[in-house]
Amino acid sequence: MTDTGRVLERLRELRAGDAPTHGGRVLSYVYDSGRDELDELADAAARLARPLNGLDPTVFPSIAAMERDLIGFARRMLHGGRGVVGSVTSGGTESCLLAVKTARDLWRQRNPDGGRPRLVAASTAHAAFQKAAHLFDLTWDPVPCGPDGAVRAADLIARLDAEVALVIVSAPAYPSGALDPVAAVAEAAADRGIPCHVDACFGGFVLPWWPDLPAWDFRVRGVTSISADLHKFGYAPKGVSVLLHRGRRRLRAQFFATTRWPGYPVVNPTLLGSRSASPLAAAWAITQHLGAGGYAELTDAIHRVATTIRRTVDAVPGLAVMGRPAGPAIALVADETVPPAQRVDPHRLADALTAHGWRIQHQPGLTQTDGVRMPHSAHLTLTPVLEQGVEDFTGALRAASDAVRGVPAAEARTLLAGMRLLGYGEGGRVPGPAAAWRLLRLAGAGDVSADQPMATLMALIERLPAPVAEALLTELLARLSEPR
Ligand SMILES: Cc1ncc(COP(=O)(O)O)c(C=O)c1O
Repeated sequence: MTDTGRVLERLRELRAGDAPTHGGRVLSYVYDSGRDELDELADAAARLARPLNGLDPTVFPSIAAMERDLIGFARRMLHGGRGVVGSVTSGGTESCLLAVKTARDLWRQRNPDGGRPRLVAASTAHAAFQKAAHLFDLTWDPVPCGPDGAVRAADLIARLDAEVALVIVSAPAYPSGALDPVAAVAEAAADRGIPCHVDACFGGFVLPWWPDLPAWDFRVRGVTSISADLHKFGYAPKGVSVLLHRGRRRLRAQFFATTRWPGYPVVNPTLLGSRSASPLAAAWAITQHLGAGGYAELTDAIHRVATTIRRTVDAVPGLAVMGRPAGPAIALVADETVPPAQRVDPHRLADALTAHGWRIQHQPGLTQTDGVRMPHSAHLTLTPVLEQGVEDFTGALRAASDAVRGVPAAEARTLLAGMRLLGYGEGGRVPGPAAAWRLLRLAGAGDVSADQPMATLMALIERLPAPVAEALLTELLARLSEPR
């Protein structure tokens, strides 16, 4: 046996190689409130709930009690009345999957003769909905946005027909930070008897306190479900989100129950069977402690950060904010109104910022189904803790922009030409594991470290046929977890 102290020492060593989770230097993935007491509270609550199994709240009623409180908190925050009910899930993806599964099952009830329903959303909707369409056998029907990442309500509404199981709007969309036209779409959907899901996984615990927004929650007629993640701006550790439905009938359609096996009766509101109650307990504790007032204060801090950063970007020649973000995300793009020699490529910028100790997230561009291209960009998730270092960040942003101004976007031309020659071009073949690994090594992307420049890999992802790029990225991730 290995001494427990040494085991933990080894884990500390491994953790030392991770990007910092606190302090705001990583502007994606992690959501630091900047308040140590929240982390301490979450740890203590998670520890208390550690031995429980969320599979059966009749045996562990504390789980049901915490869920009731959490769903009640989210329902008040989202202006849902007593008819709004829901469940606690393991995260945004699970909430989105369940919203789709529920809508699909209800669509099948309405359409007993069969067919394949569609899922309609802006092309900026989170990829979790593509996953849902894939897993639950729906047709993914993305509606193109403008190059500024904004979708027009009329374009979404034009797709709404009897084959649509669910229309999704985002509050806000992760890639652009834009708030979709919730009211227009939800009301049009209601008129056609189509449910409308608001994906507020990202903004659900911020937008309720963000100034000057149109109604986007249960106040809007036609909004039938909303997802909101506690493990993002709820400031809870990973593993917790809520999915709320208007009406008990919808929530019941989310459940899976069976007595048709010789074991215990299975009644699962969510996708998992046995599940940890620790994330639930941590989220419960944080919401109890912060209350609506605490979230309002934290949102004020984010709003101040957003204002400062947008002002800074406006003053940086060659750099621009994509579209009109509303909430805690902004995407940076090259300012196309100035000559190329004065532009700041966002992926070059993201790589250059790493040297200053800041990480913003590379987002590939997308040519949409109508041929309109959304440019590649860099995503910034703005968290309250960033307020403490915002001068530092804006200084680094200016310096890094100066350093890369005029440097053209990476194109990976030679690599792409090579791949085409090998038959991996448009309409060509998809590499298997060995070939994908060789191609990755060729692209210099085989050794993953947190500081590796990403512009070239992103250029490849943008330009390769999607099935090829997806095979390469699958390979990259799968190899990471392969025993050496
Ligand atoms: C709008 C939106 N929906 C869904 C998700 C998926 O959430 P998760 O990563 O918790 O599964 C995200 C994640 O960033 C998101 O921004």
